[in-house]
Amino acid sequence: MYNRFRLVALATVSFAVLAPLWTQAAEDGKLEVFSWWTSGGESAALEALFATYKKQYPGVEIVNATVAGGGGSAARPVLQTRLAGGNPPDTWQSHPGYELLGQYVDPGYCEPVTDLYKSDGWDNAFPKELVINLMTKDRKIYAVLAGIHRGNVLWYNAKLLEKNGIKVGGQMTFDEFFAACDKLKEAGIAALGVGDSGIWTSAQLFENTLLGVLGPKDWTDLFRGTIQWDDPRVKQAMRLFAKMQNYVNPDHSALSWDQAIQQLIEGKVAFSSMGDWADGEFLKAKQKEKEDFGWVAHPGTSGSFIVVADGFALAKGAPHKEAAIAWLKSIGSKEAQEAFNPLKGSIPARTDVDRSKFDGYHQWSMDSFAKDKLVASCVHGEAAPAAFQQALNDAVTAFMVDKNVDNFANSLVQAAKESQSAK
Ligand code: BGC
Repeated sequence: MYNRFRLVALATVSFAVLAPLWTQAAEDGKLEVFSWWTSGGESAALEALFATYKKQYPGVEIVNATVAGGGGSAARPVLQTRLAGGNPPDTWQSHPGYELLGQYVDPGYCEPVTDLYKSDGWDNAFPKELVINLMTKDRKIYAVLAGIHRGNVLWYNAKLLEKNGIKVGGQMTFDEFFAACDKLKEAGIAALGVGDSGIWTSAQLFENTLLGVLGPKDWTDLFRGTIQWDDPRVKQAMRLFAKMQNYVNPDHSALSWDQAIQQLIEGKVAFSSMGDWADGEFLKAKQKEKEDFGWVAHPGTSGSFIVVADGFALAKGAPHKEAAIAWLKSIGSKEAQEAFNPLKGSIPARTDVDRSKFDGYHQWSMDSFAKDKLVASCVHGEAAPAAFQQALNDAVTAFMVDKNVDNFANSLVQAAKESQSAK
């Protein structure tokens, strides 16, 4: 297999000589990469991956197939249609766990990439826990991780908090959070910035709050089915989530996640609970850590890290298979991980990178990843099947209107039963 990669690398130098060795489709020298990375920070980081690839494998034209919509809310249905119709992109963005294994590997849309871990010496470079538990089926590995986001971060506008006499320490309780919100409300400021034109962002606010109440062990038990969705602590998290709605910006449903971060940058809102792709937006806007913006674990979640990892899979029947394999080799290389992650807000999935290339936020997140309890995200497709992920989004949508904790809990009890029996 290694030799085949060498061919890709050499392709521009002596394409005419090598051309007969390539598959018919690969001869057009293209590579289609499918993702939903379209916000300012996301596309800057994606461009860094492309630049690294072009350097490592010159002569391949990248077709950047993006479908806008944070969290992949619009991209994933488009991808499903393409896969079901036998028209796959060469490679696509996927979260490990249920999303990768349930939606793409089980129906037979992916080729395993296990050999790459051997040829490129990756067996010890990537966190085994993630590779084995969330990316492997029948001893075959199905994706390469570009980076690992942390879902449970509370970002804030540092100047706005200072102006309002609010201090944030190394961690935050729910009481401290609501006290800060009250102070801001009195000053006429929408404390909590949300952009839930895609409902997943409110689902994520709930997810983060749920972890804050349950802690990592009970979180895992909840998704295993040994704690139920109508457990009193789950309901407590629902009530806290409802309380948070009193402090949210009134235009939340018209905004996307990155527009809400923009509002934070502009000082229109003070906090936003968002995965650390938000860091990519701060960087893109040339915001300075601590001076302009700060962060703390979402209330109650210090010591836990909600993993939202970004992998890429290889399509079975990829139109440009060699170029796609080269892409996976490239994103798994140290060079790409060190170029991409500082811009994306995620930490490199490889644990052997040069830490000095990363800023304060990344150092914080890397330390947390190394020592904290890692839990899988439901909102980002890892912890539960797609049907449950959708049911959670629907239940959150309904709850935002009726604020009925029993309805919220019961619909999730029902959805969990259905997804258990569908497994
Ligand atoms: C992805 C991130 C992305 C975020 C917002 C998450 O599901 O893992 O890479 O930046 O959605 O679009």
